[in-house]
Amino acid sequence: MAEKFKMKILCIGAGYVGGPTMAMIAHKCPQYKIVVVDINKEKIDAWNSDELPIYEPGLYDVVKSARGRNLFFSTDVDKWIKECSVIFVSVNTPTKTYGVGAGMAADLMYWEKTARRILECAESDKIIVEKSTLPVKTAQAMERILNSGENSRVKFEVLSNPEFLAEGTAMEDIKNPDRVLIGSMQTDSGIKARDVLCEIYSNWVDKEKILTSNIWSSELSKLVANAFLAQRISSVNSISALCEKTDANIDEITNAIGTDTRIGNKFLKASVGFGGSCFKKDILNLVYICRTYGLTEEADYWENVTKINRHQKQRFVLKMLSSMFNTLADKRICLFGFAFKADTGDTRETPALFVAKKLVEENAKVIITDPKAISNAKSDLSDYSLKIEYIVDPYEAADKSHAIAIMTEWSLYKELDYEKIFSSMEKPAFIFDGRNIVDHKKLYNIGFNVYPTGKSPLTHF
Ligand code: UDX
Ligand code: ADP
Repeated sequence: MAEKFKMKILCIGAGYVGGPTMAMIAHKCPQYKIVVVDINKEKIDAWNSDELPIYEPGLYDVVKSARGRNLFFSTDVDKWIKECSVIFVSVNTPTKTYGVGAGMAADLMYWEKTARRILECAESDKIIVEKSTLPVKTAQAMERILNSGENSRVKFEVLSNPEFLAEGTAMEDIKNPDRVLIGSMQTDSGIKARDVLCEIYSNWVDKEKILTSNIWSSELSKLVANAFLAQRISSVNSISALCEKTDANIDEITNAIGTDTRIGNKFLKASVGFGGSCFKKDILNLVYICRTYGLTEEADYWENVTKINRHQKQRFVLKMLSSMFNTLADKRICLFGFAFKADTGDTRETPALFVAKKLVEENAKVIITDPKAISNAKSDLSDYSLKIEYIVDPYEAADKSHAIAIMTEWSLYKELDYEKIFSSMEKPAFIFDGRNIVDHKKLYNIGFNVYPTGKSPLTHF
């Protein structure tokens, strides 16, 4: 039976980017057949079940609306490379841990393997869409690998289409993006391929929000967008340190500066530091690229954004240590939240991991609670399993603890009965708010010694 679909689209890599993005395309465009493949069978099985491999608000309903209709998850990478004409590549590109550029450059191993797989299996022309964040000029490398085959009858056109979704709001971000960016070669065939991708997005995105550029600008825009966002947080966090030394209040400052329309009021929240899979990786990538081109001052400038971030996490732990009489040994310290931000179970680069490890080094007894991230926390901290307890219920987790440290801005932590929590804790009871989400005055009145971020502490001593 002839297939009824107008186009067959493949996505290689069923992770945080590939899964939600393809689910939305399938949901919005029943005329296309969308297949998402991954080498990880467990992950694919989960995408085919009621327990999706990632938590993202609204994702399950979108997947359910399309799965089995025009959205399919499979491990058969080769078969679907053959069948589909548009291939999104959304495999992981972590920071390299070995060899030249270790700790800085992007590890392109998974990405290159994917390019070679495509080359080996393709029997007809393909449009390859880079979705993973990649160093500038990767598309050129991709193009070279793809066009190095014996079979020159098959033509590959490579596009860059960086993903700007943020976890926790991914579905909304994909549905109503600020912009969709598509970079292409400026050749006739490049422009033709670009138009195919524009058409896919224009099924639900306004035409004026679909920006086109040359391929290098598109690749670099993604790194720069994340570097700017991360820089904003490091800027605010550096000022939060100054506020803690003076009587200034970081929320009052960000409120004051955020009303300047040139600055804007978003992304100005002081915190225990930024986390997530993108910011640090992308900045280090940018730094590495600058160094490659001999741009030492520029590289140093951006590298400081990550240095301040590390310092902010370190400062948080030192604040706990010094305020709790310079010893944490044998004290029960409860971390409220482990995910790198609210509304996700993702713990990649989460500041809570840094804090938990440092507390264990101080011989504290660490208790971790989080509504979605406990299983990731357990695997991140598997080497520390004897020193850490995991308890889903926050009241139970805080029971008999000396201190609570708020790591993630889950709204549930704003609404807890802190009188009840206070009465179950060791005294003096401390609370360190790494996200400034609870009512500090109220907690102080209950009896807590309260240490906000970027504000004077409220203590009973
Ligand atoms: C980010 C970018 O926002 C997104 O466009 C890109 O595609 C991927 O990287 P994400 O990592 O999912 O998205 O989360 P984001 O909301 O940007 O938050 C990153 C980190 O910064 C989190 O740890 C968050 O808690 C922290 N943050 C954010 C702050 O500390 N203060 C803020 O004001 C905002
Ligand atoms: P991101 O946040 O960028 O989506 P993830 O790590 O969540 O990153 O997802 C990337 C996915 O790519 C993983 O599920 C991984 O198994 C998959 N992957 C890596 N290499 C390949 C490959 N060669 N073929 C298919 N899938 C791959």
